[in-house]
Order: sequence, then C-alpha cells, then structure tokens
Amino acid sequence: MKFFIDTANVDYIRKANDMGIICGVTTNPSLIAKEGRDFKQVIEEITSIVDGPISGEVKATTTDAEGMIAEGKEIAAIHPNMVVKIPMTAEGLKATKALSAMGVKTNVTLVFSAAQALLAARAGAAYVSPFLGRLDDISMPGIDLVRTISEIFALHGIETEIIAASVRNPIHVIDCAMAGADIATVPYSVLEQMIKHPLTDQGIEKFQADYKAVFGE
Ligand code: E4P
Repeated sequence: MKFFIDTANVDYIRKANDMGIICGVTTNPSLIAKEGRDFKQVIEEITSIVDGPISGEVKATTTDAEGMIAEGKEIAAIHPNMVVKIPMTAEGLKATKALSAMGVKTNVTLVFSAAQALLAARAGAAYVSPFLGRLDDISMPGIDLVRTISEIFALHGIETEIIAASVRNPIHVIDCAMAGADIATVPYSVLEQMIKHPLTDQGIEKFQADYKAVFGE
C-alpha cells in the first residue's frame, strides 16, 4: 500500500515529501478552504513539491456534468500529474466517463458503498475514494467497505485503484493495508502518530546516556 497525504497545506506536504513517505496528494474543497488561498495557486505549488498524482476537486457548487467536465479540463491543464476529483453522483459519473475518454484521470470521491465504487470503476475512474472515518462516525465499520471493494475489484480484474480516505488514526492505516487498499491518503497528524513509538524514544535516550557516560558529549 502506498501513501498520499490528505491536505492542502504546503508545509505539511513538503515535510512528508522530504521524508520520502508519500507519492501523491489529495485535496478537497474543505481542505482548500482551510488554507484560505486561491485554488490554482495552491495546486500549482503542490505540483512543484510532489512528483505524483495530485487530486484537485471540482468546485463544491458545481453539480452538473457539463460544469464538472469544463472544470475538470481546467484542473487537468494545471499539470500532467493532476487527477480530477469528482463526487459520486449520477452527474459525476457522466463527467467521469467523459473526462476519462479524454485521457484525464479521475478520482471518484464520497464513496460509501461497494455499489458506488463499482459504478465509478465502470465509468472509467482511475481511483475511487471510500471514506472510512465518516462511516465509523455513524457506527458502520468503514474498513468492511474497503475490504469488499478490494475483493470485488480483484475478482473482476478491475484496475481502478482504491484510495482509502477519511483515515483518522494509525489503526485505520494498518487495517487499510490488510484490507487491500492500494493507497491510504493520510493527514499529516496521522503520519506523525505513525512515526512515533514510546519505546523508540526511550531507546534513543538510553543509547545517548550510555554513549555519553563513556565518551562524553
Ligand atoms: C480524501 O480524499 C477525503 O477528502 C478526506 O480523506 C476526507 O476526510 P475527513 O472525513 O476526515 O474529512
């Protein structure tokens, strides 16, 4: 399983990229709004940091296929690594089909059922994004959805990649890897949690103390 970072914050993106742990980025309208910066400016900056798939979503207020296709073309024109993120609606599927026919990669987002994922794949989506955390929030195990999609795609030889999204903690990450997600898109805070272990910190302290006791600073 590969890692994308789920943020529009360029400082976090730069830090994660420098550690060599991510190979792509996902954004959404909420994440872009949180930065309070122009969409195109942020996306251009992200493409200059990470050399991998960068998901930029169509405007939250654009709900018709024609509008999504027009915006999708603009997003794709920003950089060859751009992936157009499209909501899982009937109009979104229509836009997915049209954009993929033009050679534009799409990421169908807000996927909450295996049926939605299968439809998105058949419409030509390069990626589908099932949202674990938001399912967990309503007491439905999100990981079951990732596992089911993974089994269906494997059974039918579907090449659409599964991006496990709405990942909230390191346990989610490991569960996603075991459930067969191709990618987990993870907030910077979760990447930090994954790095840390109290025994690692204790081990470093002990090595330093033992070394200093004999050799000094
Ligand atoms: C990524 O593609 C999603 O937009 C994101 O993971 C949503 O996460 P959230 O449910 O924590 O907002």
